[in-house]
Amino acid sequence: MKSLLIWDLPTRLFHWLFAASFTGAWLTAESDAWLGVHIGLGYLMLGLISFRLVWGFAGGHYARFTNFLFSPMQGWRYLRQTLKRQAARHLGHNPAGSQAVYLLLALGLVVGLSGLFAQGGEEQQGVAASLLGYDLGHALKQVHEVLATLMLLLVFGHIAGVVLESRAHRENLARGMVTGYKQGPDDAPVSRRHGLIGGLVLLGAAGFSAWWFQYAAEATLDRLAGRGNATAVAFVGKPLAGNATWREECGSCHLDFHPGLLPARSWQKLFAGQSRHFGDDLGLDAATGKTLLAFALENAADHQRSEAAWKIDRSIKPDEAPLRITETPYWLNKHREIEAAVWRSSKVLAKANCAACHLDAQAGTFEDAAMRLPK
Ligand code: HEC
Ligand code: HEC
Repeated sequence: MKSLLIWDLPTRLFHWLFAASFTGAWLTAESDAWLGVHIGLGYLMLGLISFRLVWGFAGGHYARFTNFLFSPMQGWRYLRQTLKRQAARHLGHNPAGSQAVYLLLALGLVVGLSGLFAQGGEEQQGVAASLLGYDLGHALKQVHEVLATLMLLLVFGHIAGVVLESRAHRENLARGMVTGYKQGPDDAPVSRRHGLIGGLVLLGAAGFSAWWFQYAAEATLDRLAGRGNATAVAFVGKPLAGNATWREECGSCHLDFHPGLLPARSWQKLFAGQSRHFGDDLGLDAATGKTLLAFALENAADHQRSEAAWKIDRSIKPDEAPLRITETPYWLNKHREIEAAVWRSSKVLAKANCAACHLDAQAGTFEDAAMRLPK
């Protein structure tokens, strides 16, 4: 028996970075403030998995898939033998451990991709923005959450397996994954260090993380400190269409509410009654009225060009055409927990004063990250 290099440097780096990115993404999953970090870790995880898939063909002896190709049946049998302390020792991945490797890689890939497409669909942001609609994005987010939970359970299973196996063969498997070395027979195959490729993996991951975290940290600090502007906020989506006449005609008495905040039928009703607009006569001439209505219809909530538009549209019954955004079920639901004192504060005064709390109110996007309650 002698000390043999089993896990080459790139495999070990992959293993611990993969574990760290999953743990970090899990811990930041529930909070809007940390969404930037969560997504960054997701991208990192996808990058790492892509590398591992290549390394499974091009890597050292024990990293290659062909050297731990076991069927689930073999894995199951091995597990039972381990419990009876009759399992043979493997220098590389054993038949049970290899199942965990394949499942974690596959789940990591699907979890990462579903997150990417959920963000693209539900928020219309990120690399998959505008590739799919809100409904599909929303469905993918559910898939993302269920599979991530499954992945967490699998991670626990993997750790339990490592502990069991370490005890059965009186060796520390986790330490082996740190140092790369294990005790083995003289004639067993060994891995090469692959220091150069390991360095490149580390450099790639570190470079990506540094760039990403600086970006996410800036946005998060801005948010926690209550400063910053909408354009500096992480993941503000594509700008929505604007219109100069609209800004001028509808922005003189209040915020020029974006057309995406009400469905087409509401805008039709509002323009039909423009001479009795909440007690005011808008006095629009026919040509201006036509231009404004056309812009409103083209960008109304029915077109679902933003997350807010999508959710407002879905909340209104088909036979209803509210004239107030602040009376739509979605709006009421989202704002029901805000205390009366906040509404009365001199910085707010009216419910329709959206810009008092939403930095991107004029753009019409109403991103979570651009929301700040006035102090
Ligand atoms: C002469 C002033 C004036 C102009 C110009 C004006 N509005 Fe209004 N608008 C009002 C008033 C007053 C209210 C009621 C505000 C309140 O009750 O808080 C209102 C309310 C609204 C609301 C409902 C807000 C809510 O509570 O959800 C919408 C939507 C709206 N206006 C759209 C428009 C559009 C579109 C235009 C441009 C075509 C426009 N307004 C131009 C005075 C105006
Ligand atoms: C007094 C501050 C305040 C005002 C004024 C206000 N909002 Fe909000 N809004 C909030 C808060 C706080 C939330 C977050 C609620 C939550 O996440 O549960 C929110 C959430 C939203 C959301 C959901 C965003 C998301 O993705 O979760 C939309 C859309 C929205 N507001 C639109 C509006 C519009 C349109 C107006 C004006 C007609 C408006 N808000 C006025 C405080 C305000």
